[in-house]
Amino acid sequence: MKYLFVSLLILKCISFDDVTLFEVNLNDLVINLHQNEAKGLVLQQARSAILESKNNSLGCEIIPLHLKMETQELRIIQDFNFLESDLNDELQFRQFISMTHINDGMIAITSDFIVYLLKFNYIFISKHDFRETGSQFAKIVWKFNLTQLTSAIHLEQEFPKLLYAPSSNVAFLLQNDRAQLFSLAQIESQGSSLNVYEVPSWKKRAYRGFTKEVDGLIFSAVGTDGLDVYKIVEKGLKFISNFKIFHEYQQVNIIDFSIIKSDKIKGKYFFFILDKENGLFLGEIEQEEEEVKYEFNLWMDHLIGGISVDTRNGKNVFFGYYQQGLYYLREYYINLQNGYNFVIRTKQIESRIIDVDATDEFVIVQGLNQHTIVFSNDYDYLSTNNKDQIFKHVGLRDFEFFNQVYKLEGLNDITKEYENDAFFFGITSQTAFLTRFRVQPIQIRCLYHPQNSIVGESYQYILQYNMTHKNLTGFVVRYTQNVTVNIIETYLYENDMEIVKISLFALSLLLLIILVKTCSWLDSRNKIINKINEVIENMKMNKGYKEDNGPQTGKIDETSVFQIQNQSIIQQ
Ligand SMILES: *[C@@H]1O[C@H](CO)[C@@H](O)[C@H](O)[C@H]1NC(C)=O
Ligand SMILES: *[C@@H]1O[C@H](CO)[C@@H](O)[C@H](O)[C@H]1NC(C)=O
Ligand SMILES: *[C@@H]1O[C@H](CO)[C@@H](O)[C@H](O)[C@H]1NC(C)=O
Ligand SMILES: *[C@@H]1O[C@H](CO)[C@@H](O)[C@H](O)[C@H]1NC(C)=O
Ligand SMILES: *[C@@H]1O[C@H](CO)[C@@H](O)[C@H](O)[C@H]1NC(C)=O
Ligand SMILES: *[C@@H]1O[C@H](CO)[C@@H](O)[C@H](O)[C@H]1NC(C)=O
Repeated sequence: MKYLFVSLLILKCISFDDVTLFEVNLNDLVINLHQNEAKGLVLQQARSAILESKNNSLGCEIIPLHLKMETQELRIIQDFNFLESDLNDELQFRQFISMTHINDGMIAITSDFIVYLLKFNYIFISKHDFRETGSQFAKIVWKFNLTQLTSAIHLEQEFPKLLYAPSSNVAFLLQNDRAQLFSLAQIESQGSSLNVYEVPSWKKRAYRGFTKEVDGLIFSAVGTDGLDVYKIVEKGLKFISNFKIFHEYQQVNIIDFSIIKSDKIKGKYFFFILDKENGLFLGEIEQEEEEVKYEFNLWMDHLIGGISVDTRNGKNVFFGYYQQGLYYLREYYINLQNGYNFVIRTKQIESRIIDVDATDEFVIVQGLNQHTIVFSNDYDYLSTNNKDQIFKHVGLRDFEFFNQVYKLEGLNDITKEYENDAFFFGITSQTAFLTRFRVQPIQIRCLYHPQNSIVGESYQYILQYNMTHKNLTGFVVRYTQNVTVNIIETYLYENDMEIVKISLFALSLLLLIILVKTCSWLDSRNKIINKINEVIENMKMNKGYKEDNGPQTGKIDETSVFQIQNQSIIQQ
């Protein structure tokens, strides 16, 4: 029984408003399995899957798309045993309030103005799997009491924010009415003094929301005062511009934004701007020499109660908001070239939303102690019974994603491609942490015990899964396939997975070709066909399926993580 024909049948092409659904029936998938043997089959590009047993058997199940996370935490503040309580009640106790990523570590500041400089331990991070309790990922290399230098802080207003400017290697401590800067070079020399400079050009504002540095410019959301723009100059900031934006003769109340750099025009930025009273709109800022110009683009949504907006790829935009006692996350699709946009879906989030942070593939909806991971989607075709992944991180304050492709120095096989490890790291009220995550594709996992199976019997399932292609908006392919699991005798060993793998790889290639040929109505849409051809080219590189026979707790590939930066490695 070790053969599997590659054949498929397209049942229909159904066109909805925004999406065309292809129904494809695949030939039977046969899995030969010993008792007590676990087998997994990865559905590499599937975005959602359902497995239905015809025998009421629970031997095989779908492991949904999820993140595998490993966290290390370094406890820094010991004084107070925190209960899970509201942020504001905690403020009287010593705790971390803000952090920022610097070259090879982070700086973090506490509510009593102790600045900590932490450096990552690259060797450890690249070589070890993390144990939950470990703390070797980083080390405090310096701390400084800023109290005398920053006495006039009003914690009850807003947390001061730390911001790092890589272009000049300085860090800013930003408040509503005050900004100070200090040099990282001085911090890194670990001397006993630190010069803190006042930034006189900083505008006093009643409200200050998100503030971000991009290409030497600092953008700050200042509520009904609009958006402030500064340029980082030697030992300070130069105020460049303030944009007040109106909507129906009312000044919009900007609390958050997300920036996408134009890949076509240098110095041009797209801004997704969150107006607390009116919703979400798109604007553009163009920088020419010392000037910046703002231009309104379009409204994406009119909604009250916005909390946070974020996008990484400029295509999937996430918007967290609060309405009538409930928290929601809404995902939009937008094409920045022509402004075409629509709502992909709206999800209720079970916990409070504090912030929304997007990567290319998913978004972390930050709550107080409980945080939700929602995978981005081109269309809302995910089966709704899939629960979102929730993780707890008590007292999470602030974090950033670290996601750069580095190559390990001194490695012989340069041609070897490294898997792109991804991290986020940050602070909780008392600790610094680093979390390594990997997106785990959808899998079918099968395991039959002697108690629930008989050798020689076979079990039938119907597998259904949906696939999209990143470069091909507007298409969902829904596959349906009968799965037969044969419980075989121990002495029979068949490497059927190899065959499955190869056949299905060929199949995923074939599929797109057939899509083009059979759906004749597509002929009129030349653009799409060209795109599909491109995709077929690209697919030659991608395997449709990947085998994975590992146990549940698969060991993580020990590939490179960070570049080893010799001068900054901390000796343990
Ligand atoms: C799956 O099996 C059922 C019978 O058990 C059959 O009617 C159906 O056509 C099969 N589906 C496919 C896609 O082969
Ligand atoms: C499971 O169902 C299929 C078809 O419905 C049947 O052929 C098979 O014998 C069943 N297996 C067991 C162990 O009951
Ligand atoms: C920081 O300095 C202030 C004033 O000099 C002092 O009161 C405070 O105790 C110091 N904090 C720590 C943690 O040393
Ligand atoms: C696949 O997408 C279709 C259309 O949106 C949907 O009806 C179906 O439930 C989805 N199937 C899965 C397995 O998510
Ligand atoms: C998608 O298209 C871009 C260029 O438009 C290309 O660089 C990329 O490799 C494509 N990705 C895939 C998965 O086909
Ligand atoms: C690190 O630095 C030492 C001396 O400073 C040098 O001998 C060694 O080759 C460097 N290692 C790497 C990986 O650059």
